[in-house]
Amino acid sequence: MSDLREKYLTAIAGAEDEAALEALRVQAVGKKGEISLKMRELGKMSPEERQEAGPRLNALKDEINSALAARKAALADAALDERLRGEWLDVTLPGRPRRQGTIHPVSQVTEEVTAIFADMGFAVAEGPQVESDWYNFDALNIPGHHPARAEMDTFYMHRAEGDDRPPHVLRTHTSPVQIRTMQAQGAPLRVIAPGRVYRADYDQTHTPMFHQVEGLAIDRDISMANLKWVLEEFVKAFFEVDHVDLRFRASHFPFTEPSAEVDIRCSWEGGTLKVGEGDDWLEILGSGMVHPNVLEAGNIDPNEWQGFAFGMGIDRIAMLKYGIPDLRAFFDSDLRWLRHYGFAALDVPTLHGGLSR
Ligand code: DAH
Repeated sequence: MSDLREKYLTAIAGAEDEAALEALRVQAVGKKGEISLKMRELGKMSPEERQEAGPRLNALKDEINSALAARKAALADAALDERLRGEWLDVTLPGRPRRQGTIHPVSQVTEEVTAIFADMGFAVAEGPQVESDWYNFDALNIPGHHPARAEMDTFYMHRAEGDDRPPHVLRTHTSPVQIRTMQAQGAPLRVIAPGRVYRADYDQTHTPMFHQVEGLAIDRDISMANLKWVLEEFVKAFFEVDHVDLRFRASHFPFTEPSAEVDIRCSWEGGTLKVGEGDDWLEILGSGMVHPNVLEAGNIDPNEWQGFAFGMGIDRIAMLKYGIPDLRAFFDSDLRWLRHYGFAALDVPTLHGGLSR
């Protein structure tokens, strides 16, 4: 019997796979296996012989069964180890985007702008793209006869037959979000509102749909100085330069008083734009102190609160920062353009990680 034990334990320990193990199991303890046959012979033995051989056979059977189970577990572990080795993956490596899709420059720049202003405590506000003419014009101190209405090349929505209320418009700027935010949140507040705007215009720098970002800060003692500082911080962070010269040019907007257009110093030497040096100036936004009528339209008491506002073209600053010459191509969905000017999908702009890597 010790021969049998030796034979099977050695064979089991050396079995290379599950099939070999199963063959051994059948051969040893299967119905017609060697051990089973021996057990059957117990019946022909004398009681004394049986008393001695029975327990030994049972013990041997148990021993072989546990050897089979142990070897089976060892084979499974080895198979798993082997698989894990093959599928090994360093999860600390950076992702490898396959450039199947890219982030559109407008989305990228919107994220950049949002990250910069978020750092200065500005939340993001939104409003509808189909807007009432009250929010788009009247509430912003642009009454019905005002020339700014005509200048805006507004798209008007259809009214039902017999409805003689003023038609809704596709918002011509993000400024109506100022009113909606003041009404919804009250003072004090600090928001930016990026989004789509619409004007009937089409050439190298104009498309009928484009993007703006509005800024609005209302508090008890906000001044032009706060506006200047915020815009300077923004321009430095956005163009990723340590120093910029800003020029505030007196201007006129119905919704701000005083109003200023802001230019940044730049150079066009060699045909490429450099921000922060040179003798040229580039207009990048309109701004000013919120007009008392506008505060009132937003249900905010102009005797108690004041604020600054600004509006900036997102597509325009995207063209400037990334050297994209023609705005119309932004909205052509040309894959070659998107691959060239698009951004890797996994690089989310942040102030600490880099805005535009
Ligand atoms: N709404 C203006 C436009 O579309 C831009 C603008 C100018 C917004 C001055 C402002 C501002 O908030 O204060 O041309």
